[in-house]
Amino acid sequence: MKQRAFQVSPRHRRILYVVSLVLLFSGAVWAWVHRLDEQGSAGVTLRHLKPWLMKAHGFAAVGFVLLLGTLLSTHVRRSWHARKNRSNGAFFLSAMSLLTLSGYALYYLGDETWRNATSQFHLWLGLSSPLLLFWHIRSGRRATAAR
Ligand code: HEM
Ligand code: HEM
Repeated sequence: MKQRAFQVSPRHRRILYVVSLVLLFSGAVWAWVHRLDEQGSAGVTLRHLKPWLMKAHGFAAVGFVLLLGTLLSTHVRRSWHARKNRSNGAFFLSAMSLLTLSGYALYYLGDETWRNATSQFHLWLGLSSPLLLFWHIRSGRRATAAR
């Protein structure tokens, strides 16, 4: 199989990166404003921004799940069958699934203690995701370069 067969097409990759950046930015800025808000030092404009940031985050999350679905039937299936980057890929896919599931849980969890724990888990896993993606790509490129 040609090396290209394992790659995510440039267009697909671009959309994935844009959607991921919107998720990262909206989530990180929301968490920052929320912290300021708890300390009582967020201005009115920043506080008004919070619901809009979560709306953008939720919208991008729908796009991310769609993209993940399309990657499963192309990139993931092909690489998995060719035994390229399996362990790193499985780890990365599990991390992205946990990020998605914790986001879903945040939407519905009522219990304060569980919600706070899930919120911290979701935020820190989300903030680590660019590093995980970088590691995944590096390991994947090494696997396909080694013939
Ligand atoms: C079991 C799951 C997975 C396996 C086995 C796998 C395997 C690979 C391999 C072999 C490469 C290197 C391709 C090359 O450049 O030759 C790669 C790169 C990449 N993977 Fe994965 N992957 C998995 C899951 C994922 C997931 C869930 C995502 C996104 C959410 C993802 C996104 C990417 C991206 C963006 C690249 C770099 C672009 C490219 O070179 O095509 N992968 N992966
Ligand atoms: C890319 C890194 C990400 C970061 C930094 C991040 C951060 C956050 C933060 C700080 C919150 C608010 C937590 C709270 O209410 O206490 C949140 C909520 C949420 N996130 Fe993420 N997130 C990321 C990725 C994702 C992904 C990949 C998904 C799903 C595909 C997702 C789905 C959600 C959902 C559904 C909510 C709840 C929205 C609401 O309550 O209105 N997030 N995220």
